[in-house]
Amino acid sequence: MPKIGDIQLPDFPLLLAPMEDVSDPPFRALCKEQGADVVYTEFISSEGLIRDAAKSVMKLDIYEKERPVGIQIFGANLDSMLQSVEIVEQSNPDIIDINFGCPVKKVVCKGAGAGILKDIDKMVSLTEAMVKHTKLPVTVKTRLGWDESSIRIVEVAERLQDVGCQAISIHGRTRVQMYKGEANWHPIAEVKNNPRMHIPVFGNGDVDSPESAMRMRDEFGLDGAMIGRASIGYPWFFKEVKHYFKTGTHLAPPTMEERVDAARRHLQMAIDWKGEKLGVFETRRHYTNYFKGIPNFKELRMKMVTSDDAADVFAAFDEALETFGHHQFA
Ligand SMILES: Cc1cc2nc3c(=O)[nH]c(=O)nc-3n(C[C@H](O)[C@H](O)[C@H](O)COP(=O)(O)O)c2cc1C
Repeated sequence: MPKIGDIQLPDFPLLLAPMEDVSDPPFRALCKEQGADVVYTEFISSEGLIRDAAKSVMKLDIYEKERPVGIQIFGANLDSMLQSVEIVEQSNPDIIDINFGCPVKKVVCKGAGAGILKDIDKMVSLTEAMVKHTKLPVTVKTRLGWDESSIRIVEVAERLQDVGCQAISIHGRTRVQMYKGEANWHPIAEVKNNPRMHIPVFGNGDVDSPESAMRMRDEFGLDGAMIGRASIGYPWFFKEVKHYFKTGTHLAPPTMEERVDAARRHLQMAIDWKGEKLGVFETRRHYTNYFKGIPNFKELRMKMVTSDDAADVFAAFDEALETFGHHQFA
C-alpha cells in the first residue's frame, strides 16, 4: 500500500486535486467526509506568502479533521520558495506539494507552474532544495511535458524521486493542451512501470466515473487517482468510487436531503471561515452541481447564486427541500 513519507495510505487512495477557489477548507472537509484519502489546498503563490499578502496567507488555514492535507505552493524563485516553505511549515500540514503543472499564462511566463517544464534541470534543483529545507514530505504535481514533442516524464519523475520527492501526481496532458482533448494515461503508466520508481505515482485527468477510476487502477496500474472536476459540487464522488471498487455496483446518488444538508454545511463552514460576504460569494460555484438534473430548478438556483444575504441562501435551500424533496436523482 502506498506511503507518502511516513503517511500510510490505503490501497489505491483517492486524492482531492488542488483547485483554485474550490479546494478551500470547507470543501476539503466535505470531500474528506465522503472518502477522500488525501486533500490538497489550492495553489498558493510563494511570492504572495513572503509579502504576507493576506489572501495567500489565509489559504494556509487547515482543519484538523481534513488530515492528511498537503499545502501546494508555486513559484520559480529559489529564495522565495525556500522562505515560503518556512511559512507553510508554521501551519503544520502533512505534506508540501510543488505545483509544476499550472498552465495559465501569468504563472507560466514567470517560469513557474508548467513553465518549469521547459527547464527540467531547474525543476529538479528547486525540488531538491525544498526537500533539503524541510522535514515534511515534499510531493510534486505536474503535467506530461511542455508539448507533445517534449514529453520526458519518465526521466523527469525518476530525477525528482532521486532528489527526495516522496510522491508524484501527473496530469495526463501537456501544457500546450491546457484542458483540451482527452487526458493520456499511457505515459503515466510508463512512469509507474519504470523499475527504478518506488515512490507512489498518482494519475490525474478525466477520472469522471467509478469505471474510469477502476481503469486507472487495473489497466494502467497506477498507485492512486487524483480527482478534480468530478468532485466540484459533488463530494460524494469519492464514496461512489470506493463503493464501486468494493461491490462492483453503483451507489444510489445522494438524496435531495443529503444535497441540501451538504450545501447548508458547506455555506456555514465557509461563513465561519471567511465571513458572510466572501462565504456567500465563493460557495456559489458549487450549487449548480449540488442540484444538477432537477427540472424547473432555475428560479431557486438563481436565488442561491445571486443573493448576497446568507439568510436568503439558507431559505432557498429550505425551499428546495420542501419543493423538490421527492425528486429521484438518476
Ligand atoms: C477550477 C480549477 C482550478 C484548478 N486549480 C489548480 C491549482 O490550484 N493547482 C493545481 O495543481 N492544479 C489546479 N487545477 C488542475 C487540477 O488539479 C487537475 O489537474 C485538472 O483539473 C485535471 O483533473 P480532473 O480531470 O480530475 O479535473 C485546477 C483545475 C480546475 C478545474
